[in-house]
Amino acid sequence: MTNERAKFGSRFGLILATAGSAVGLGNIWRFPYMAGNNGGAAFILVYIGCVLLLGIPCMISEFIIGREGASNTARAYTKLSNGTAWKYIGFMGVLTGFLIIGYYAVVAGWCLQYIFASAAGELQGDPKYVAGYFSEFSASPVKPVLWTVAILVITHLVVIRGVRGGIEKASKMFMPTLFVLLLGLVVASCNLPGSGAGVEFLLKPDFSKVDSGVFLGALGQAFYSLSIGMGCICTYASYFSRRTNLLNTAVHISLVDTMVAVLAGLMIFPSAFSVGIAPDSGPSLIFMTLPNVFQQAFTHLPLVGYIVSIVFYVLLSLAALTSLISLHEVCTAFFLEEFRISRLRGATFVTVIACVVGALCSLSLGHTDLQLTIFGKSVFDALDFVTGQILLPFGGFLTCLFLGWYVPKKIVKDQFTNWGTLRGALFGVYLFCVRFVCPICIMLIFLNQFGVI
Ligand code: PFF
Repeated sequence: MTNERAKFGSRFGLILATAGSAVGLGNIWRFPYMAGNNGGAAFILVYIGCVLLLGIPCMISEFIIGREGASNTARAYTKLSNGTAWKYIGFMGVLTGFLIIGYYAVVAGWCLQYIFASAAGELQGDPKYVAGYFSEFSASPVKPVLWTVAILVITHLVVIRGVRGGIEKASKMFMPTLFVLLLGLVVASCNLPGSGAGVEFLLKPDFSKVDSGVFLGALGQAFYSLSIGMGCICTYASYFSRRTNLLNTAVHISLVDTMVAVLAGLMIFPSAFSVGIAPDSGPSLIFMTLPNVFQQAFTHLPLVGYIVSIVFYVLLSLAALTSLISLHEVCTAFFLEEFRISRLRGATFVTVIACVVGALCSLSLGHTDLQLTIFGKSVFDALDFVTGQILLPFGGFLTCLFLGWYVPKKIVKDQFTNWGTLRGALFGVYLFCVRFVCPICIMLIFLNQFGVI
């Protein structure tokens, strides 16, 4: 079964699929807010620095492990670690995948529901009503669970078609659509009267706001946004060909991801500022604040407001879907290779588990009699916290140590230079980052998160 491993069909498809994993809710609901409140262009510069110093080296490391291991994440780490304890990083990645899918699918399901709610004109009314609509909907026991299952079934239908016929094909459709929709929304938003203040808020550099906390926040965001630390990138890299230039690919993906994040800011801030609403982040931004912003910003052109609102939720759903596909693939590849079952069976197994985890997350936000909490947090919040703040950075940290210090340098160099066919002028810089810069920076994020520094 593992003799002839599936490969992406083209470089373009490979970049779109991997960028699809990276571009997600993190780009839209967190990045703009962080940038706007932490010094605008100054934050964006710090963020780009973090992507260069931390994101790209970590991404290349996962590429190397994935392409060298040529199997699912767990087996790839096992092969390269010769069965030593390092192999558990790969298993941890699969587990993290399941945990992220759970809450991510719930939010993706909300986005689907909001496409229909906007189309039916249900999101119109005063801010209190719109906020109440979300609180009531997200806490109800049935509807959000059904939407979670719906988005997971769509993900399932893509994943069962395999790497080329499913993941690559879907990414080639979804990612360009996402770009076009995003650009359309940016144009609509930046043309509103008074939108200039929003553009200025996002892009005017204010270096006085950049302190160590901001720096560490940017590091964490770069990590989450690039999907590093849990084997997504590693799994996709196992479908790369021997000719794929790893450095080049990592740079392209990071560029696309950062561009989408900045464009998301140029969509949100100008419209919010044009109606004097202060944007926040997270679910409340996209499900409570923005419906009001769209409504008020386009009062004179209600049809445009109506369309903008629908397009926005379609955009969010696509962004979430491509990330979900990558998370699903990590787990599916694991089952189909480790248990030697068909892709359809492996994917079905993953979809069923993901539906259960998703349902628990969704129900934990509602008024049921079940006490769905972990350490005093709802299951939803607990999974978000444990994965985003602990497991992803920890996985990235261990990956850097593993690749930088344990894996033989020859393997790393061969992969970096495509077995000597590329010059690899930056290999030394890359290795220095993986050995020293990345582990130290990630350690700092940890210490900062837990209030030690
Ligand atoms: N990168 C995604 C985002 O920015 O929303 C989130 C994510 C997807 C994290 C897949 C990790 C992952 F493996």
